Amino acid sequence: MRETLLLLGARRLQVPAIHVARKMGIRVVAIDPSPDAPGLALADCGYVYDLADKKQCLDIAERERVNGVMTLAADFPTPMAAFIAQQLKLPGISPRTALLSTNKRHMRAALSDANVPCPISISARSLDEAIHAMKSIGGPVIFKPAVSQGGRGITRLEPEESLNSIKSAYEHASNATRGDGILVEEFVDGPEYSVEALTWDGLTTVVAVTEKLTSGYPHYVEIGHSQPPTCSTYDVEQLSRTASSGVAALGIDWSASHSEIRLTCMGPRVMEIGARLGGGYINTHLVPLSTNVDIVGAAIEIALGRKPKIEISLKNKAAAIRFLVAKPGIIQSISGIEDVKNLTSFNDIDIFVNPGDRVLPLSDADGRLGYVICTGENSKSAIEAAETAKSLISIKTV
Ligand SMILES: Nc1ncnc2c1ncn2[C@@H]1O[C@H](COP(=O)(O)OP(=O)(O)O)[C@@H](O)[C@H]1O
Ligand SMILES: [Mg+2]
Repeated sequence: MRETLLLLGARRLQVPAIHVARKMGIRVVAIDPSPDAPGLALADCGYVYDLADKKQCLDIAERERVNGVMTLAADFPTPMAAFIAQQLKLPGISPRTALLSTNKRHMRAALSDANVPCPISISARSLDEAIHAMKSIGGPVIFKPAVSQGGRGITRLEPEESLNSIKSAYEHASNATRGDGILVEEFVDGPEYSVEALTWDGLTTVVAVTEKLTSGYPHYVEIGHSQPPTCSTYDVEQLSRTASSGVAALGIDWSASHSEIRLTCMGPRVMEIGARLGGGYINTHLVPLSTNVDIVGAAIEIALGRKPKIEISLKNKAAAIRFLVAKPGIIQSISGIEDVKNLTSFNDIDIFVNPGDRVLPLSDADGRLGYVICTGENSKSAIEAAETAKSLISIKTV
């Protein structure tokens, strides 16, 4: 009989899971709180429900006799996926692991208990507590929401920052958190990577390591990714080992994972680990291009309790994505798309905005206006091509 997958979240970034599942002959039932979520119409059956409503979501899972449940790259539905898996005895991570991988306060505690290297992190539930935490850390810090994703609510602060700046960073983080206050963390410097891995029955396989480009101070929005990374084999091993030990420390025994790590002069430091695939087109686009692994398909197989076959091809090309951004204002014109499509290294382009739309200052991933993806024989050429493609697109604002 055809198996059924329950997909929690049906927004644009979740849609590839529907296409991949369909190709695998799997029926997809999707739930999303927004009736406009494009995946609802694409799935075999789409339901508009609150993804925090345990009763409704479990009812649907039971009624639809689902064989597995997952979210592709969204953090928010991870605890619901774990709850449904537990209730219906389906494959998946435990509710405790879902909490550890979505609540950074709990995540930090679990990682430190297991000696996985992390920045110093102090929980704060008021401005006074945040100021106190800043003083006890001493150097530059990051304010970040305890429960959030997509780079929302992140600000770096210097020790001598004015009270007004501290207050606005505190509010920026507090407004973004879905609970549990904010974290004040030691700012650790160094290039950023993510480790894309699959864990089946407690055994973790690293599929790819991604090199990241961020917008830097003060909000560190991810504006580019590339694979394979340009760092040394030793660094790739360090990153992979750190990610695997973090995955084990959080109890991620049956799921994809996305571990974000900075490589500091003192070694790797974990930023966060999600018990799901990473977003930002890393797994839907870059991983298949650079490794030939259908990692979305593999994550679906894990959710259905099947052991995925993972054959990484080192002969594959390198791939890079660059996100499009523009000066704040109203968009007047968008040009250059055809020029990008004519590049020999071109792979994909999408622009999420139209003339007349308002562009806000870039403070998190929601401020990205589109993307270009290019491939190359090696990372350097893929990155150069993606940068060229990005420079060919002009999004004029006034
Ligand atoms: N302690 C830290 N030190 C240095 N940079 C940090 C720290 N915490 C977060 N950042 C920066 O902010 C970005 C977003 O933080 P992260 O914890 O990954 O939040 P999100 O879940 O929203 O992606 C990171 O990728 C990193 O660039
Ligand atoms: Mg992150």
